[in-house]
Amino acid sequence: MDYQYLLSINVFLVFVIVTFAQPSVNVYPCQYGDYGINFSNTTHLSNFRLVDNSTVASEQTFASVCYDEEYLNIQTTNFDDNIYSPFTDCNDDLYKADAFEVFLAYGSNQPEFYLEIELSPMGVLFVSKIYNPGDACSTISGTLIDCGQSGIIYNATVYDQFNTWVGTLRIPLELIYQTSSSSSSEGSSQPLTPSTLRFNMFRIDVPLNSPMQFACWNPTDANPPCFHIPSAFGYMNFQ
Ligand SMILES: *[C@@H]1O[C@H](CO)[C@@H](O)[C@H](O)[C@H]1NC(C)=O
Ligand SMILES: *[C@@H]1O[C@H](CO)[C@@H](O)[C@H](O)[C@H]1NC(C)=O
Ligand SMILES: *[C@@H]1O[C@H](CO)[C@@H](O)[C@H](O)[C@H]1NC(C)=O
Ligand SMILES: *[C@@H]1O[C@H](CO)[C@@H](O)[C@H](O)[C@H]1NC(C)=O
Repeated sequence: MDYQYLLSINVFLVFVIVTFAQPSVNVYPCQYGDYGINFSNTTHLSNFRLVDNSTVASEQTFASVCYDEEYLNIQTTNFDDNIYSPFTDCNDDLYKADAFEVFLAYGSNQPEFYLEIELSPMGVLFVSKIYNPGDACSTISGTLIDCGQSGIIYNATVYDQFNTWVGTLRIPLELIYQTSSSSSSEGSSQPLTPSTLRFNMFRIDVPLNSPMQFACWNPTDANPPCFHIPSAFGYMNFQ
């Protein structure tokens, strides 16, 4: 065996590890209680880390996730000692202040097309179909989707006494399907409920007397901060 051969095997292994190392979570059908979806009994995501993965975010983000026949349902709890967002209209630049974000793509492949959703503590929504062929912030283009037309059911509530805001997103599986392909009218040649989604979640936060923080469920390691790195999307497996 020569070194060239061993080297190529090593390069191959590193490639495989880098390609498949993204985290994966299982999600389950929602359970219902007296007040609708019981988000206590769902898959919980937390431990958001700064975008460069240097450390955990000082103000944490929690997301509880389950699905039903029509929707992927997410409840996000955001700790925040300085809750502020000046935006009032659908598709405003919510990322310039406090916001929770989720990117979603149907299927298990690293996507070029995906759905971007942002929610502010004031209950304002941003929805866009993203095309990102270069796995970088410099290669994205977005097509905004009207919030009402999107079919997303959403709200957010600020609990000042607890330094917390809580948001709910019910995201049509059909919308995820439609925004994950190049054409918008491909029809449901695949089952509406995916077996796997690629996704990541994010938080933009301005803690009291601190600079703006960018945090991720799965850090993108990008510097300057960039969330739009599909190769860092994790896997969400529907059980
Ligand atoms: C929600 O689920 C939790 C955990 O399974 C359970 O303890 C609680 O009783 C449920 N609440 C309702 C309203 O069903
Ligand atoms: C959620 O509900 C299911 C079905 O009722 C149960 O098997 C499971 O243990 C519950 N999970 C939690 C975290 O309570
Ligand atoms: C937010 O939406 C969820 C899901 O539709 C609903 O269960 C909840 O009651 C709503 N919360 C508020 C404060 O309106
Ligand atoms: C981020 O850092 C943690 C702790 O060192 C490590 O376990 C994790 O794999 C890193 N994630 C990424 C995406 O680099």
